[in-house]
Amino acid sequence: MADEAPPTNDMNKIKPLDEDDVAILNRYGITPFTKPITKVEKEIKDITGKIKDISGVKESDTGVVAPSMWDLISDEKMIKEEQSLLVARCTQIINPNTEDAKYMITIDHAGKFVVGLGDRVSPTDIEEGMRIGVDRTKFQIQIPLPPKIDPSVTLMTVEEKPDVTYNDVGGCKEQIEKMREVVELPMLHPERFVNLGIDPPKGVLCYGPPGTGKTLLARAVANRTDACFIRIIGSELVQKYIGEGARMVREIFQLARSKKACIVFFDEVDAIGGARFDDGRGGDNEVQRTMLEIVNQLDGFDARGNIEVLMATNRPDTLDPALLRPGRLDRKVEFGLPDLEGRTQIFKIHTRSMNCERGIRFELLARLCPNATGAEIRSVCTEAGMFAIRERRKTVTEKDFLDALNKVIKGYQKFSATSKYMIYN
Ligand SMILES: Nc1ncnc2c1ncn2[C@@H]1O[C@H](COP(=O)(O)OP(=O)(O)O)[C@@H](O)[C@H]1O
Ligand SMILES: [Mg+2]
Repeated sequence: MADEAPPTNDMNKIKPLDEDDVAILNRYGITPFTKPITKVEKEIKDITGKIKDISGVKESDTGVVAPSMWDLISDEKMIKEEQSLLVARCTQIINPNTEDAKYMITIDHAGKFVVGLGDRVSPTDIEEGMRIGVDRTKFQIQIPLPPKIDPSVTLMTVEEKPDVTYNDVGGCKEQIEKMREVVELPMLHPERFVNLGIDPPKGVLCYGPPGTGKTLLARAVANRTDACFIRIIGSELVQKYIGEGARMVREIFQLARSKKACIVFFDEVDAIGGARFDDGRGGDNEVQRTMLEIVNQLDGFDARGNIEVLMATNRPDTLDPALLRPGRLDRKVEFGLPDLEGRTQIFKIHTRSMNCERGIRFELLARLCPNATGAEIRSVCTEAGMFAIRERRKTVTEKDFLDALNKVIKGYQKFSATSKYMIYN
């Protein structure tokens, strides 16, 4: 710009440092302790040197050798001689528990062999059906390997029990009853089914509008049971590559079968269980293949052991009929809107930990929200708390609840999926 002054010359000129500046630079970073510390460090170094001299430890023994002493050629040779192992599967043990036990193994692309054990494995380590590592020359068993299960599948196991119990589920008495019957009875009293000569029910489908406690009840089941609980969200099974989703399902059931008792819970199963259709492009859908693998696993060509399958969805109409046919998911539990008693109970559950004034008429509140789901009632309670916070009160009054009811229920009517659910089903 025109009115800006040109840069002055003496800004650009470099001034040489004078003596004071040099003195400052020399002193920079030096504290009263600097000298003693350097002295002590030098002493330590001297003493370690002396110790090494006396004890005769060479530099090479401590790990670092001078590069002049490196022997790259023989190192390389050693690495080449140490061959990698082949992965095989032990299909059968011949003469087990004797001196001359032999092992029948299958190696992919190479065939079947009868081999012995390597030096470093003991006979107790190897079981039938195990994955093992064998060497490349004699095919001797060198190492037992863990079953091949995708780490992402292992991560789906619920290790920490959720802190939800059946008491935290309001209403839904019938549903809880049905779930317990299917989930707990076969695990706790399998002999009753054996005596009668029937197969225990294999799976349960929970369906109902969003926010009616399907996931909540599954969490309560997980809390109650001692069985291993595997939770899968339907969309996790939708993978990029063909066959990946189906492989994950297989590995999930493989993992489940390796446990004594196991509950597998597929949440939002409509992500994969949608009805099959022709997309007009001649290709078939990867998602459908995943669903078919679930169907296959439910049918249990492989012995299924003590596995119960739970599924939850809010669009049961979109599910494939093959998934729903009896013998696969025998039980279908509908989670409807809670009735008056249920709503009162849900109000009580969610205000249990709140600081409320005494004598709130929860039944009256429940009467005022005839079509509310559990999630909406929970939101009412939170909103009532917000009203109290806004007015800087320490307790929540009945009026707060009434205000919150108006706000939440009116506001949700526009977004509610419940009416749509009613139409579709
Ligand atoms: N019957 C119920 N009793 C108590 N709380 C409920 C109930 N139903 C829903 N809720 C509340 O609503 C929330 C959402 O419910 P959720 O089970 O996740 O719904 P969905 O059926 O869509 O899976 C829960 O975390 C819980 O706080
Ligand atoms: Mg849910």
